[in-house]
Amino acid sequence: MTTSRVIPTEPVHSDPGDAPRFAVISGDQVSAALEGREKQIVELVEASYRLHASGDSVNPPSYFLRIPDKPTSRIIALPASMGGQTRVHGLKWISSFPENVAAGIPRASAVLILNDHDTGYPFSCMEGSIISATRTAASAALAADWLTRGRPRPTRIGFFGVGLIARYIHTFLAGTGWSFDEIGLHDLSADSAAGFRGYLEDSGFSNRITVHDNAEQLIRSSDLVVFATVAAQPHVSDPSWFDHNPLVLHISLRDLAPEILLGSTNIVDDVEHCLRANTSPHLAEQLTGDRKFLAGTLSDVMNGQLAITADRPLVFSPFGLGVLDLAVGKFVYDEVLRSGNLHVINDFFHELRRYG
Ligand SMILES: NC(=O)c1ccc[n+]([C@@H]2O[C@H](COP(=O)([O-])OP(=O)(O)OC[C@H]3O[C@@H](n4cnc5c(N)ncnc54)[C@H](O)[C@@H]3O)[C@@H](O)[C@H]2O)c1
Repeated sequence: MTTSRVIPTEPVHSDPGDAPRFAVISGDQVSAALEGREKQIVELVEASYRLHASGDSVNPPSYFLRIPDKPTSRIIALPASMGGQTRVHGLKWISSFPENVAAGIPRASAVLILNDHDTGYPFSCMEGSIISATRTAASAALAADWLTRGRPRPTRIGFFGVGLIARYIHTFLAGTGWSFDEIGLHDLSADSAAGFRGYLEDSGFSNRITVHDNAEQLIRSSDLVVFATVAAQPHVSDPSWFDHNPLVLHISLRDLAPEILLGSTNIVDDVEHCLRANTSPHLAEQLTGDRKFLAGTLSDVMNGQLAITADRPLVFSPFGLGVLDLAVGKFVYDEVLRSGNLHVINDFFHELRRYG
């Protein structure tokens, strides 16, 4: 008995009344659909932020499942709904088990479920960790672009924490036209630093790569600093390390002590989302009792409502929005459908007649 069939290019519901279909998309297919599409995905993420800012999306708070006997781990549910042309609902269910890395598999694993706009039926379940890393890196590249407009682009980048997310961010920066004279790396793990250096060399980067044992040196020698650690609480607290006013992509959200944010211009992706779950901006709010330290959102910058000056460090802290996962996931679904390789699970929905 076959368990799946390949649907050439038909949409999920060809006619009203048709049995809903359900397709599974593997990581291999997700990767193939996204490869080399950095510019297109950054544009998609920009459009999704604009849609979210216009109110044509629903993005409730993420739910964090914590596991008592695994205190460093969590599984997060990110439900969302998008209007616009995407018109899809869905859920990303993403695990973070940092100890996986020592066991030789990535920290994060995920599935993304897409639900049909009209019927609510789930129509696809796809490998989600690549989509998650892709939308995170695309959002970082988008922010780096918008937050440096009108002044020279940084040419010295420093990666603080060099795992999978740092690799995707580098790929997205390189794939959207950034070039660097110098790349600095800092990681608690010498193996991670060596692995990232190897990735950079394989990707064709031939300028200077410096592995810094010392965090201060990495920050002071970088005009663009990317935090992608798994730190649960702040471990960088000296504001003087940022005296040269770098752009900081604070992707891992919990590295910077509130004092550093209070001396910086702070941009987030979504205020309500970001001021939760003991992120550094959340700690700054708890310390000051207000949100005056926030300049605004990336959408404010893109809409021309917020001008950026270079006289302070500039920190972008993106909580990561489910709508971005949906946008990238729907893009992948459409690509796989178009390629004629959509694996539909036969008879996935079985109880389709109300009275049997
Ligand atoms: N904001 C978002 O939208 C978003 C999305 C996805 C991932 N993330 C975050 O990105 C981070 C990185 O994810 P990943 O998949 O690359 O993880 P990873 O485990 O592959 O890599 C993390 C690296 O950070 C290093 N590290 C940990 N603590 C450090 C410290 N204090 N100083 C220096 N190095 C340190 C580790 O040794 C490891 O090499 C995670 O915190 C994750 O939650 C954020």
